[in-house]
Amino acid sequence: MTDTPKIELTGVRKAFGPKVVLDGIDLQVARGESVVVIGGSGTGKSVMLKCILGLMRPERGSIRIDGEETVGVGAKQRDRLMGKFGMLFQGGALFDSLKVWENVAFGLIQGRNMPREQARAIAIEKLAAVGMAESVGELWPAELSGGMQKRVSLARAIAANPEIIFFDEPTTGLDPIMADVINDLIVKCTKELGATALSITHDMASARKIADRIAMLYKGRLIWVGPARDIDHSGNEFVDQFIHGRAEGPITMELRA
Ligand SMILES: Nc1ncnc2c1ncn2[C@@H]1O[C@H](COP(=O)(O)OP(=O)(O)OP(=O)(O)O)[C@@H](O)[C@H]1O
Ligand SMILES: [Mg+2]
Repeated sequence: MTDTPKIELTGVRKAFGPKVVLDGIDLQVARGESVVVIGGSGTGKSVMLKCILGLMRPERGSIRIDGEETVGVGAKQRDRLMGKFGMLFQGGALFDSLKVWENVAFGLIQGRNMPREQARAIAIEKLAAVGMAESVGELWPAELSGGMQKRVSLARAIAANPEIIFFDEPTTGLDPIMADVINDLIVKCTKELGATALSITHDMASARKIADRIAMLYKGRLIWVGPARDIDHSGNEFVDQFIHGRAEGPITMELRA
């Protein structure tokens, strides 16, 4: 018997007017697996994530979570699905007007109607999991460095013990050491939860560290999918150019004046 994939995309297509962004995406992520999607700016990584989250609707194809079709489902079923997800947004996206602990506890209080004191206790526990003291919970996001904000965002993403966590550019804008701290925390937290992780990044150091498998998105398709350890000998010239950051190669940048 084969296990049902946690996440399964089949033939997913998404266009904006004449512009086809996703042109038949097939991807399976197994339970407990960590898959990282790499690809250049504007290749559709965020659009792909938004389709899975249900924030955008693909005009063709299927997206299954635990074997259950999610494209075109109603609000009630969508809410239930969202309960399985945790999300670390590009840029952190903390609420400035809420204290750190309130940010971490937001989904518990607003989404699950948990009493504040109980939610606060969980928030403090999750902050500890990302190496932050209880006193940090009383600070405002503006009082934190970028690296600390990422940690708080990670604590928020795991607050409700999600089955699936999405990471959108988790290390962008961090120095290499803080980026590595975040990578380690991502690995630790997803393992502890037994969660399935789908991340998007153009940071190869991050991809190597957090991925079991890596998939490369280019011109609307996943042109290579394989174990992270194979990335240096993929035999794919597009992948080679991307991971070495070479200007010369088959990938051409569309530059507009
Ligand atoms: N709501 C929208 N309406 C029209 N076009 C869109 C919309 N959202 C995204 N696009 C287009 O889809 C393409 C892919 O965008 P997307 O944000 O997924 O890129 P990305 O791979 O995440 O890039 P980056 O690495 O810079 O974050 C871009 O050309 C973008 O202009
Ligand atoms: Mg993006």
